[in-house]
Amino acid sequence: MNKVTVATCIQAKQAWESGLKILLSKNKIRISSFLILALVQISSVYADTAKKIESEISERSGSLIALQVCSGCHGKTGQSISNQYPHLAGQQKVYLRIQLAQFKEHLRKSANSMAFMWIFGGDLNTQQMNELAEYYAAQAPMKGEKSDSPLIRRGEKIYTEGNPNSGAPPCVLCHQKGAVGNAEIPRLAGQHANYLYDQMNIFKHTQNRPNGQAMMVLTHELSDTDIRAVSNYLGSLNSEEQ
Ligand code: HEC
Ligand code: HEC
Repeated sequence: MNKVTVATCIQAKQAWESGLKILLSKNKIRISSFLILALVQISSVYADTAKKIESEISERSGSLIALQVCSGCHGKTGQSISNQYPHLAGQQKVYLRIQLAQFKEHLRKSANSMAFMWIFGGDLNTQQMNELAEYYAAQAPMKGEKSDSPLIRRGEKIYTEGNPNSGAPPCVLCHQKGAVGNAEIPRLAGQHANYLYDQMNIFKHTQNRPNGQAMMVLTHELSDTDIRAVSNYLGSLNSEEQ
């Protein structure tokens, strides 16, 4: 390539680039005014839709809400999608109903209750709470993953005999054989062990679950290892085998 051709090429390139810049800046103006117009239109459509959704929510049945809203974390049938969220499948109806009211009235107030359940459970009406409790109670119960270890055997002992050294009562007295629960006493069998461990610590160290008076007293009789052991034992139960 000779010198002239190189110079011509550079000029052509510069001309093309400045042309492109002008084109781009013009388009930017066009794009942004188009965007603003579109956003104004969209936001008025959104405002209408939001009003429509709001009125539809208050008309939705519990089972529809379970599938459309709650399933995102608790799974379609109450078998939760990760151990960040408790299973609800086969949970006691009365217990579920009480907890939904506790969230709605902001009485159950641990960090996760506030971050998740005050938002997703906050607008439910009485009928929807009843229907949701009925929906989850009727599902095939949550199932744990069977496993065995000295820690799990220690947990089983605490569940059935309590901790005679510290005076902790046996859990089976209230939570029933097989940890299936009864009325306002929750099913624990097959629940995520980490969730059970966290809740026991909430009862032990805070006032964030004021409905659990008995739990607040008896968790003080349990050491951290006791709590871990009994949580792991309960998480390993497969209630269909009880
Ligand atoms: C974005 C995730 C998310 C969604 C959506 C959600 N939840 Fe929850 N839910 C949670 C978490 C996290 C907890 C545990 C809160 C805690 O640790 O106190 C919880 C706890 C619960 C509990 C208490 C369980 C127990 O054993 O005490 C019930 C009942 C419940 N949710 C019902 C619902 C219902 C009904 C809906 C739909 C209206 C719903 N949740 C939607 C995350 C969610
Ligand atoms: C005197 C009866 C009683 C005894 C004994 C008892 N519990 Fe409970 N437990 C309850 C009640 C009632 C609740 C529901 C509390 C609430 O509504 O907040 C509960 C709740 C729980 C929860 C929360 C479950 C959830 O889904 O959030 C766990 C975990 C638990 N108990 C574990 C145990 C363990 C482990 C023992 C034995 C060391 C035990 N409980 C002994 C009555 C009892």
